[in-house]
Order: sequence, then C-alpha cells, then structure tokens
Amino acid sequence: MGLLDKLHNVADTRKALLPPGIDPFNVVIDEIYTSTEASLGGRRVLLAGTNNYLGLTFDQQCIDASREAILREGTGTTGSRMANGTYAGHRDLEQELAHFYGCSSAIVFSTGFVTNLGIISTLAGPGDVIVLDADSHASIYDACKMSGAEMIRFRHNNLGDLEKKLQRLGERSAKTLIIVEGIYSMLGDCAPLAEIAALKKKYGAWLLVDEAHSMGVLGNRGRGMAEAAGVEQDVDFIVGTFSKSLGAIGGFCVSNHPELDLVRYVCRSYVFTASPSPATIASVREALRVVQANPQLRTKLWANATQLYQGLKQLGFELGPDLSPIVAIRIPTREKTLLAWKALLDCGIYVNLVFPPAAPAGMSLLRCSVSAAHTVEEIDRILQAFTGIKHLLTDGDGAAAAS
Ligand SMILES: Cc1ncc(COP(=O)(O)O)c(C=O)c1O
Repeated sequence: MGLLDKLHNVADTRKALLPPGIDPFNVVIDEIYTSTEASLGGRRVLLAGTNNYLGLTFDQQCIDASREAILREGTGTTGSRMANGTYAGHRDLEQELAHFYGCSSAIVFSTGFVTNLGIISTLAGPGDVIVLDADSHASIYDACKMSGAEMIRFRHNNLGDLEKKLQRLGERSAKTLIIVEGIYSMLGDCAPLAEIAALKKKYGAWLLVDEAHSMGVLGNRGRGMAEAAGVEQDVDFIVGTFSKSLGAIGGFCVSNHPELDLVRYVCRSYVFTASPSPATIASVREALRVVQANPQLRTKLWANATQLYQGLKQLGFELGPDLSPIVAIRIPTREKTLLAWKALLDCGIYVNLVFPPAAPAGMSLLRCSVSAAHTVEEIDRILQAFTGIKHLLTDGDGAAAAS
C-alpha cells in the first residue's frame, strides 16, 4: 500500500464512472478488415473514430513497401538514431520531408509524442518562456514541464489573451516560444494561425505549430494549417506525426533554422530511444508519395467531413465550432455520453468516447472522425445510428439537448 494508493483511486473513479460490463477505454479490436471496418466484441463495426484521415493503413503501395523493407532490412533497428539506428531510409525520409515542406532541415523521431517532448524541451530551457494554447495536447504540456522554461497558457484560440500575455513579456518575447496546433484533436477546431503568426512577428517571438491532425488534411499540397493560412514563412518549427494521415507511427520536425540539425546531439528523446523500424519508415515514405500524388484523397475527406458535420447539425446535435474531419458531439452528461456510445456500438458504429481531462472545458464528447476511405453510404449509416440515439439526449421537455 502507500505507493499504490493512487492506482486504487483510479479504480474507484472507474467504478463510479463506468457501469459493469462497459469499458470504452479498454476496447480491443479483435480483427481489422480495412481502414474503416473491424470486428469488436464479436460484431462487425464501422470505424468512425480513428485518425486514419486518408485511409492509408491498408494502402497497397504502403503495404508492399513495408513488406519489402522487412525482407531487406529486418524487423527492427535495435538502436537509437544516434547510434546504430539511422539507416539510409531514415536519412532519405528526412530529405523527403524537408523537400515536401520546402524546408532546409527535417528530423524523424520514433513517435509524435516523443517528437514534442524532445523538440520543445530542447528548444526552450530555464530562462526561456513557452506561451501555449490551453487546449494543447498532453505531449506539449509534458514537454513544457520537462523544459524548465516558464510556462504561460493563453485561453484556447483567444488572440486577445495571447497578445496580452506577449505584451507583458516585454523584451523576454525574444526568448519566447509560442506553441499551437493546426487542428485541435478533440473538438476539431482550427487555430487562427494567420493572426497568431502576425502576433509572433509583432512581438518578436518564435512559433511552433503541431500539425498532427492537419498534415495531409489542410493546404493545397497537404502540408497543413501553416500552408492553408499562407504563413509557412512565419512558422519557425512544424512538428507532426506519422500516426494519423500517413497511417503508420513516428514523428518529425521541419524548419528552415539550420540549428535544427544540432538538436540531434542533445535531444534526449532522439538519442535515448530506438529508431522507427525499416517497415515503418518504408511505409511512411510511400504514404508521403501517395499524399502528394493524390490530392483527390483530401477532396474526398472534406466531402465526407461536410456530409457528417452538416447531417449531425441538421439532427440537432451540438458540434465543435469548425467543420473538419474531426466531428465532436457534445452530450450533456457523462452518463448519457456513455449510454450513447454503447448504443452506437450496438448499431455497429465505433466512435471515441472522451471525458475530461482529455476533453477540454469539462465536456463529455463523442468524437467522430471521418476518413477519405468512408463511402457516402457509410457516412449515411453513421447518421442513421445517431438518429437512433437522439432520444437519449432529450431534456425533460422532450427537446433535443443541443443547447
Ligand atoms: C496534437 C498532437 N500532438 C502529438 C500527438 C502524439 O502523436 P503520436 O500518437 O503519433 O505519438 C498527438 C496524438 O494524438 C496529437 O493529437
């Protein structure tokens, strides 16, 4: 006891939250058939809660490249990027990423999470300041803590609050790193990046954008929010992940600052963890080619997002503020969210259930996400299933609880 008390508290909270027999946070996918279909709890379900925005997890070119890499180079590198874990493929992927973004340097990491941990805690240190959006991902918060820099939060997407905080810093803004995301992962809302970049320039600060959910999704070439907002030249560092649009695992940072290459020598999550496997690198390289050669994937993704967002809105659900491939449905209470999640699953639709602290501002959410691989009929099936749970959201007066 003692040491483990905190885990017993977790068990108590779980028990209070979840009725017996339902554990939405411990779902096992028994079999995966395609990028949008799987078997779960003995039934076939449509996956409407993944980050597989372009549906590339089953792309034949990526699978073939991955298979060939395993046969050629083995199953793993067994070493960090700094030691024996940099193969020609890792170096080539870095060059291809730099070329894709039109940047001079790129670094590849083992996951998106450790990219943020490593890059942010290397760029900012004691005596520096990080000004971050309050709804930032856990990896960004953890990185800020690790950095030893002073951490100042501004209210989510609130330009006035950001400016107030930058103003107060005075000359210290030259040692200040602003961190925002392109599309926020839970509500699917977008950063006002053109205005944020203007503030960064006005106050002489630095800007890092996490494009985890916007790479492959936004911009003419799929480079993300910085491209879509026309401010790539004003963004100092872009970080992203291979685990969403690119359908694999890993992370990266690109920049035009030549100092990025020096990060390799001091960044602990680059130096002290094994590098991505040859199969992963090969599939990511192929996925990057697919993204560039197939802009129609993005067109289809946005058509699907529009169909789902508008359809749910017409049904009376309360949604996140912006149309994007992440469609978050706010449900009034935790109990109802849980019941709605289970009812959707019983209809053969899997969505993500999100409670605080993962959901912002104490909300309970059903998080749907669409993929370019969904068909119009599949989006219709999702909408039909949501029609079936509207009654769960009714207030006492029978009106849909979308207020
Ligand atoms: C904004 C953001 N950054 C970083 C990450 C971490 O990426 P990964 O899961 O690839 O480690 C995530 C994951 O969801 C994310 O949403």
